[in-house]
Amino acid sequence: MVKGKRVGIVGAGNVGSTIAYSLAMLGSCHEIILRDNKMEIAKGKALDMSQAAAAVRSHTVVSVAEKMSDLTDCDIVVITAGSPRLPGMSRDDLLMINAKITREVVEGIAKYSPNAIIIMVSNPLDVMTYVALRESGFERSRVIGMAGILDSARMAAFIQEKLGYGGGQIRASVMGGHGDDMVPLPRYSTVAGVPLSDLLREDEIEEIVQRTRKGGAEIVALLQTGSAYYAPAKSTAIMIEAILKDTKQIHPCAVYLDGEYGYYDVVSGVPVMLGANGVEKIIEITLDDSEKEMFANSCASVQTLIDTLNTNKFFEGV
Ligand code: LAC
Repeated sequence: MVKGKRVGIVGAGNVGSTIAYSLAMLGSCHEIILRDNKMEIAKGKALDMSQAAAAVRSHTVVSVAEKMSDLTDCDIVVITAGSPRLPGMSRDDLLMINAKITREVVEGIAKYSPNAIIIMVSNPLDVMTYVALRESGFERSRVIGMAGILDSARMAAFIQEKLGYGGGQIRASVMGGHGDDMVPLPRYSTVAGVPLSDLLREDEIEEIVQRTRKGGAEIVALLQTGSAYYAPAKSTAIMIEAILKDTKQIHPCAVYLDGEYGYYDVVSGVPVMLGANGVEKIIEITLDDSEKEMFANSCASVQTLIDTLNTNKFFEGV
């Protein structure tokens, strides 16, 4: 049999299974393999999705890996596993729990799919991307966090809601970490090429910026039993498509910075070019003083969490 593209998804909860469904409907890859401790549920979802794929005449087959050692030779492995963020719980509360889960998963990926590109989705996103990079030993182009596409999509939706028009023509731009101090960039956001500042008042733009920063929490408060998954899943699927199709398109993603924007040894969201090799280029856009300050604050928050992991000797295997 010809080896087709294989995408592994660790964690078949709402986000993981919606990513799988989205990919299966698009026919983006040949195989999607779900890995979850709740095996029967994962099997049920895999069957259901394979049948949905057959309904739309997609060739994608969805199956289940009983153990990490069954997740072999994947081109991409997405990690959504982790404790969910419940109401009142900050992304950062999840730190230690999810860092340990990430370490375990990444060890399996490095062993059984050593050439894979890892896409991190679990929170706190930037730090989990850092953990995945450190624990996998992969080069930084192959460990990418999903958040910028999501945060930009949220900002675009809020711009459309505020304007009452422009749907499908909005390019919103968000940089920085996936936290409350992310950096929405109205200066780099347009509607059909028209700068936001020509369409909205300053206070309206500021309202959009603040709502974008709390976009995840707004949905957590409404759902009560979990967090958003349609937009996070679609954003992840967009990254997967860009990589599998080698589109070389630019998307905001969380990557390890090694001097870009003046930062070292930290992960943050920046525009990158995605292609078959993962992150093929990191793009440095010009920031003004206030944008630089916001980006610095965002990197500092991520750094604090990395420091917490170091203080707890996480990287020494504790
Ligand atoms: C969100 C949470 C889950 O942004 O981080 O939806």
